[in-house]
Amino acid sequence: MARKKVAIVGAGHVGAHAALWMALKEIADVALIDIVEGMPAGKALDIMEAGPVEGFDTLVQGSSDYGALIGSDLVIITAGLPRKPGMTRADLIDKNAAIVRGVVEEVVKNAPQSILMVVTNPLDVMVHAAWKLSGLPPGRIIGMAGALDSARLRAFVAMELNVSVEDVQAMVIGGHADEMVPLKRYTTVSGIPVTQLLSPEKVERLMERTRKAGGEIVGLLKTGSAFYAPSACIAEMAEAIIKDKKRIIPCAAFCKGRYGLDGVFVGVPVKLGSDGVEEIVEIELDDAERKAFDASVSAIKKLVGELKF
Ligand code: APR
Repeated sequence: MARKKVAIVGAGHVGAHAALWMALKEIADVALIDIVEGMPAGKALDIMEAGPVEGFDTLVQGSSDYGALIGSDLVIITAGLPRKPGMTRADLIDKNAAIVRGVVEEVVKNAPQSILMVVTNPLDVMVHAAWKLSGLPPGRIIGMAGALDSARLRAFVAMELNVSVEDVQAMVIGGHADEMVPLKRYTTVSGIPVTQLLSPEKVERLMERTRKAGGEIVGLLKTGSAFYAPSACIAEMAEAIIKDKKRIIPCAAFCKGRYGLDGVFVGVPVKLGSDGVEEIVEIELDDAERKAFDASVSAIKKLVGELKF
């Protein structure tokens, strides 16, 4: 059976590390693409040379030619500027929308059959832009954010309780911004709601840290934004798509008629498989959760309104 192919556009911190995770886990062969000449080929070769040590046979090739997109089952867009201290994700909107526009044109030309995963920030707006510009069915376009926000919450819960991360599950929905909605009722340790294991104050502290987790890393790094956990989450979602695993992962997906929405990309639990978004799972929200979710949707819509196309 021929191996599947994933293209990653943007071979910076996030893109290159996503290629490394995918190689290590032998998820698919990888084409790493960047506008900078030589750099993606150098990083790809460097990853290939780790193959004998780690025992993976994944083919990773780097290029500055968008022809490398041809034959991709999945294209991941990580091209764009990251945040610096003092910036919100929304501050990136104009520059990154222009980059996403150029990349999407190439995807439509070279890999129109692929599933498209967007990672560039501000995430929910860039997914919307990719959908508008590509004309692809919305179910084939997906944004990576909820997986990351949930992974961060899982890490914080595990640290707080001194338990294995393997036993911690979490669900963060809404936009990938400070208005995101971490759901404490759906955050569990081996099925036990975290609200039974920690005081309300401690739970609230972990939810608040999750909302600000991206900024916490930007503040520490000072020169850019997070990339290890984001790239791990890209690989997690890529694996679900490439191996048709039907995993339930929160992702930015097009909600029209779901969650009572009228056509907006926002983070919700999704069944991920080889067709992309195979189902949007509607979970029960209490009044406070619904209010927070609606506020997050409004913030996304406001930013989408600022897109200049
Ligand atoms: N085509 C291909 N690559 C591009 C293009 C383009 N049109 N424009 C920029 N790039 C590349 C840059 O050359 C750079 O190598 O995108 C890469 C971005 O890498 P970094 O600057 O290291 O940024 P990174 O930390 O990887 O973040 C990328 O992901 O999480 C988000 O907010 C983050 O929007 C940011 C994106």
